[in-house]
Amino acid sequence: MNQTVPTPPPIVHTVADLRAAVAPRRHQGVPIGLVPTMGALHAGHASLVTASQAAGAFTVVTIFVNPTQFGPGEDFARYPRNLARDAALLAPAGADLIFAPATEEVYPPGFCTRAEVESLTRHWEGAARPTHFRGVTTVVLKLFNMAQPDFAFFGQKDLQQSVVVRRMVRDLDLPVEVRVCPIVREPDGLAMSSRNVFLSADERRRALCLPSALRDVEERFAAGERSAAILSAALRARIESTPGVQLDYAAIVDAETLEEVSAIAAPSAAIAALRVGATRLLDNALLGPEFRSR
Ligand code: PAF
Repeated sequence: MNQTVPTPPPIVHTVADLRAAVAPRRHQGVPIGLVPTMGALHAGHASLVTASQAAGAFTVVTIFVNPTQFGPGEDFARYPRNLARDAALLAPAGADLIFAPATEEVYPPGFCTRAEVESLTRHWEGAARPTHFRGVTTVVLKLFNMAQPDFAFFGQKDLQQSVVVRRMVRDLDLPVEVRVCPIVREPDGLAMSSRNVFLSADERRRALCLPSALRDVEERFAAGERSAAILSAALRARIESTPGVQLDYAAIVDAETLEEVSAIAAPSAAIAALRVGATRLLDNALLGPEFRSR
């Protein structure tokens, strides 16, 4: 049988070329879908492209390892970069265009403007990585302005990021609809992440305590447990009892404000982050009848 290999989408590197590629589709009335990424793509990213395609959008995937969201001593230098591999992965997913700008295209000399969402970024990832979200919102706002999408697709795996971006869109009246897509998991349950490649076989085995602790919380919640104290204690205990794993945080939070709750009465989330070896991993589970993720 003759199997045709799908052609990778074209790649543009400048804002001018991005706008020139998008404009004709916009004029035809086709919505524009944006999937912002830092590359090192996996099936989780492909699911965002699929969601954009399902929305009937001309789908632009941005690939840019954004330096401003990495703190000193974080993994910016070792973050995996392989544009050819990423482009090949995007072909079957149906992306229409890749925007892979150079650093100077995004941050020209003299760049000194930042976008910052306050309060929502104080806790959790924001506490562990104090300048991280300012870098994320600055680059996401820029990418929105560059591509002017109708829809933007983010993964639920980075729950706080999606909440922060949604708030920025609301607060600044940005004309884009943010859609958050479910976590995609490896067969063993680990949430797909570009950082999973850093894990040794042993670290990976230990890291599985994260999805399994969250599954346990979901099961307790499904069985009727509504005390956040009981659920977060179970989440924490399960992770802390795994040797070689360092718990960063584990909590039950309101899904919109990300503040800790005492009882689950509104849509909430179990969130956790841990360190295994030199790698930091995050995961979460949405708790609420409309939020069953597994
Ligand atoms: O989630 C990511 O990969 C990044 O934080 C994003 C949204 C592409 C901004 O650099």
